[in-house]
Amino acid sequence: MTTRKTRVFSGIQPSGMLHIGNYLGAIQQWVAGQGQKTNFICIVDLHAITVPQDPEALRRQTRELAALLIASGIDPQQTTLFVQSHVRAHAEGCWVLNCVTPLGWLERMTQYKTKAQKQESVLTGLLDYPVLQAADILLYDTDEVPVGDDQKQHIELARDIAGRFNHLFGETFVVPKPVIRESGARIMALNDPSAKMSKSDFTRGHAIRITDTPDEIRWVVKRAVTDPGRDISFSADPDRAGVNNLLQIYELFTGQSRAAIEAHFAGKGYGALKTDVAEAVIEGLRPIRERFDQLITDPAELDRLLAIGAEHARAVADPKIRLMMERVGFVLPA
Ligand code: AMP
Ligand code: TRP
Repeated sequence: MTTRKTRVFSGIQPSGMLHIGNYLGAIQQWVAGQGQKTNFICIVDLHAITVPQDPEALRRQTRELAALLIASGIDPQQTTLFVQSHVRAHAEGCWVLNCVTPLGWLERMTQYKTKAQKQESVLTGLLDYPVLQAADILLYDTDEVPVGDDQKQHIELARDIAGRFNHLFGETFVVPKPVIRESGARIMALNDPSAKMSKSDFTRGHAIRITDTPDEIRWVVKRAVTDPGRDISFSADPDRAGVNNLLQIYELFTGQSRAAIEAHFAGKGYGALKTDVAEAVIEGLRPIRERFDQLITDPAELDRLLAIGAEHARAVADPKIRLMMERVGFVLPA
């Protein structure tokens, strides 16, 4: 019997500078799994245009994201890192899956509902977003999808779509499962620990971007909202979400155990907590920033690496899209 390595697929939008929520919730997990598993990481530009984008900004952010992912430890030798629009099968697969997906499944997606509320005019692509995401995942016979907590509903939808297609046309897809880490799955805004840290909130103090300077990081952490009490311990209590969020950030940047962290802060105040958290973030991000500054000066090299990634991705996705087309009854091009 041949055993196949576990397949891992995840995606990330080139729609703005990454923050530490993206890094701790998603990227750190992707880097940790490299080597033992077969990894595909996709820069999802087709998803990004489901809300209006400036074309020049999108092109710049796509290369910046590639540089940031490599700077964060994604090794293009070990992970297939590619741009979604370079592999036609994603758009084609989305179309075929559209035609087995009931509209009602999409209308109840919470991310769609929240994003739609923020738009004056909602684009059709925004409603269809999770079907494209299902195509991304299913084209690669993905076993595991490591994501932050906010993507759980989309992965469940991909499972439902896979199940329905398999039922209608015969076994075609592996049914994937979401992998959501316990700590870091939901990094909260520093200025409001009741809200998720988000790429689209540009209020100063909301997020720490991966490329922020040490001074900016100190400024933001110093003003982070803490709790009414004085306790410094991990907690699931919503009234203590501010300190818990800072502790999780500290935990994930230092790699220390929760017990060691609580012992370290025992008897200390929130001022000391903030100083230490800021320094841990600065030290954790320093090598990433340095590497990023270097990589971004050579866009031709980034494009070369992305072209190799796309070629590897096509070798897996192209036979799968042919199989999908055959299953639904298309005459395949000779
Ligand atoms: P996006 O920025 O929407 O392209 O998300 C990229 C990845 O980061 C996805 O796996 C998200 O689930 C994850 N992510 C985004 N925001 C957060 C957050 N505040 N905490 C943890 N993970 C997050
Ligand atoms: N929707 C995901 C996000 O915003 C990005 C994404 C697109 C994705 N395709 C994917 C994540 C496939 C996992 C698997 O975070």
